[in-house]
Amino acid sequence: MIPSAKTQIGDEERAAVDRVLRSGMLAMGPEVAAFEAEFSEVVAGRHCIAVNSGTSALHLSLLAAGIGPGDEVIVPSFSFAATANSVALTGATPVFVDIEPDYFAVDPSAVEAAITPRTRAMMPVHLYGHPAALGALSAIAERHGLLLLEDAAQAHLASVDGIPVGAWGIAASFSFYPTKNMTAGEGGLVSTADETVARTMRLLRNQGMEKRYANEVVGFNNRMTDIHAAIGRVQLTKLAGWTAQRQANAAFFSENLRGVVTPPTAEGAVHVFHQYTIRVVDHDRDRFGEELASHGVGSGVYYPTPIHRLPSFDLDLDLPTTELVAGQVLSLPVYPSLTEDELATIVTAVNAVASAGS
Ligand SMILES: Cc1ncc(COP(=O)(O)O)c(C=O)c1O
Repeated sequence: MIPSAKTQIGDEERAAVDRVLRSGMLAMGPEVAAFEAEFSEVVAGRHCIAVNSGTSALHLSLLAAGIGPGDEVIVPSFSFAATANSVALTGATPVFVDIEPDYFAVDPSAVEAAITPRTRAMMPVHLYGHPAALGALSAIAERHGLLLLEDAAQAHLASVDGIPVGAWGIAASFSFYPTKNMTAGEGGLVSTADETVARTMRLLRNQGMEKRYANEVVGFNNRMTDIHAAIGRVQLTKLAGWTAQRQANAAFFSENLRGVVTPPTAEGAVHVFHQYTIRVVDHDRDRFGEELASHGVGSGVYYPTPIHRLPSFDLDLDLPTTELVAGQVLSLPVYPSLTEDELATIVTAVNAVASAGS
């Protein structure tokens, strides 16, 4: 069976972890500082603050940007729950808007229509590695005096008009969960050009302290360890090559798949294919996935239930594209270690299932 996702950990990562363990400096130390400095190069030199997960990155960046009770933050419902959880955990209200069907990100006109006097921010998600419509969203944010925060958990190295994700809004959050385009084991990072947000992030992740035992604000322990940072540093050196391979795999699929809707890339956008997500429109999506499995091809559904309909939010909203797409999406294996044989097997399997009357 070709698994739907695969994490690549090699000897260099193992050696880096061993180096940290031998050093005795395990908590937030020199490896974290080096990781932040190195990651800064992929977000146009912005300040980088590493934390223990992508969820912490989202949560703390919202807090650091001043979001709290009484505020509304516009988010997509078609995302991983962490997007909305992080807003709710600040005491603010996530306001769910619909997506556009091609790129699976928030529809800028739906964002604009959802603005109320309580709206403070929008947090688009660069879902599957395709950047949201950052040009249009930035313009709306500016016109209405809103903050733009990016959920870039799935989109390391994606860009729009030559500007990388993570360098658009007041803050952006990345995840280093094992299945992401690069991993630190677990981990997250916030990029920001705003000195106050950067400093507040550093305080919030470490119990509100810059100076030991001189706690300035009420904070968390959301620190990244040096062990995780050391893994992240090695993976970062491989990210560009892996991303190019993901893009090549995606191009092969888009050229050869028949009978399903393949994912387009918007003009000016660089898609980094965290997922290669097709839409199954002529068949039952779940049956389609089962049939692929019988051909030895794993696949995944991200995400079967829109966030607003999860028991944790349970809202009765009219988001027709979100509802439609949640029943159609199917992500194929696209990770960089796929062999040519595996790529061919995936194409043959998808085309066979698509052409059969399942
Ligand atoms: C879109 C999105 N946002 C946020 C997160 C949260 O990241 P983490 O799992 O590192 O907490 C993830 C990943 O899991 C994600 O896919």
